[in-house]
Amino acid sequence: MPSPPSKRATRERLLEAARAAMKNAYAPYSKFRVGAALLTVSGDLFTGCNVENSSYGVTNCAERTAVFSAITRLGPTTKIRAIAVVNNQNAPCSPCGACRQVIYEFGPKASVIFLSASGWKDLPIEKLLPQGFRLQ
Ligand code: THU
Repeated sequence: MPSPPSKRATRERLLEAARAAMKNAYAPYSKFRVGAALLTVSGDLFTGCNVENSSYGVTNCAERTAVFSAITRLGPTTKIRAIAVVNNQNAPCSPCGACRQVIYEFGPKASVIFLSASGWKDLPIEKLLPQGFRLQ
């Protein structure tokens, strides 16, 4: 039986897919183009980019675009294993608070891969969002 891909291979695959998605970003206002790629527990890959709006507040971040795309395709039982995020400025960029809560909803054990001020990090969502909200 073939062995499962290494953590490093998974990370590279996600980063590559996130970079490709970033090219489709609609970011005429901030010029900050973001791409995200997520892997589900079942092994499916989904991507997303940020989609801005003239009414700034309704902008959708890349991470949420990717999560919503996964749910749309696979349904409400989808579980996120890992999600990676990149941007066109090589700036430190971890998911915003809203995206952390959305990732947590579908992947309470998900790994989040992002560029921090001290290099690439791969952290559990629980660390980025301690005691995330869950409606029982
Ligand atoms: N943005 C994301 O897409 N993901 C993040 O993790 C941080 C911020 C977007 C939202 C907006 O289009 C632009 O980056 C600047 O905030």
